[in-house]
Amino acid sequence: MDYQAVLEEVAAHARPFVRQGRVADYIPALERVSADRFGIAVADIHGDVYGVGDWEIPFSVQSISKVFSLALVMAQSHDGHDNIWQRVGREPSGTPFNSLVQLEAENGIPRNPFINAGALVVTDRLQTLTGDASTSMLHFLREESGNPDLAFDQAVADSEAEHGDRNAALAHFMASFGNLENPVPSVIEHYFWQCSIEMSCRDLAVAGGFLARHGLRADGSRLLEAREAKRINAVMLTCGTYDAAGEFAYRVGLPAKSGVGGGIIAVIPGRCTLCVWSPGLDARGNSVAGAAALDHFTTLTGWSVF
Ligand code: DON
Repeated sequence: MDYQAVLEEVAAHARPFVRQGRVADYIPALERVSADRFGIAVADIHGDVYGVGDWEIPFSVQSISKVFSLALVMAQSHDGHDNIWQRVGREPSGTPFNSLVQLEAENGIPRNPFINAGALVVTDRLQTLTGDASTSMLHFLREESGNPDLAFDQAVADSEAEHGDRNAALAHFMASFGNLENPVPSVIEHYFWQCSIEMSCRDLAVAGGFLARHGLRADGSRLLEAREAKRINAVMLTCGTYDAAGEFAYRVGLPAKSGVGGGIIAVIPGRCTLCVWSPGLDARGNSVAGAAALDHFTTLTGWSVF
């Protein structure tokens, strides 16, 4: 497969979509990003990386961090007997990523680890396991991406905290059901920091390599059991793009996880991990040009999990 040629064609196809979405403004610091950006990268399972456009420019990973926090919790506790799946489900929510409505009816157990409530539970667990969830995340991402310069964006973390009433409400509500192990202020602070990490398409495609390698890191060491990597990919497919997960599976046919920074990672198990970035979002919080690019990538290559 000539990845570089495919990426060039995908980028040309996606360009007209670049200005169609809206840059997230509910976290004011995210609005500083130019809406014109577009980048895409592929890291194959052998460690070769290809990219086009703004693929080496760091952006706010936001909810893409939720894949990595879940992986880190599973790696630290080898999930079979860990209680994380008693505290968070694995069903699509069909509601927006920051919705409160299901939590009361479902006794403070979030539907899945990729909506905000579920990610707060995972961060809480990581805090218990490591004593410093966000720093563990940063070190983990530096190691998996091979980029020692990855950093938090303090302005984004501060902005998110300042406008974090919704996430605080979710966390307090879950705490009232006994579904948090650590104090709410500490859980939401670590969650905001992990969302504020800046990474490029290159960094994210490389860091997500273990999902395409059935749990193996780039150096061949094992991060996750194959069945754990399979489970993360399965939950990405069904829940990774929120209330658009059905539409995404229909159009793209790959496990994927989006973030309101405009990034989306997608996995082709046994072949490669992709990351695309363009900040304009649709109404459900997914990058418009990013989704168009992944759609075109699977159309051109014929690769999907189906
Ligand atoms: O908690 C939030 O609202 C953001 N830090 C992350 C949300 C997000 O990326 C959802 N993505 N589509």
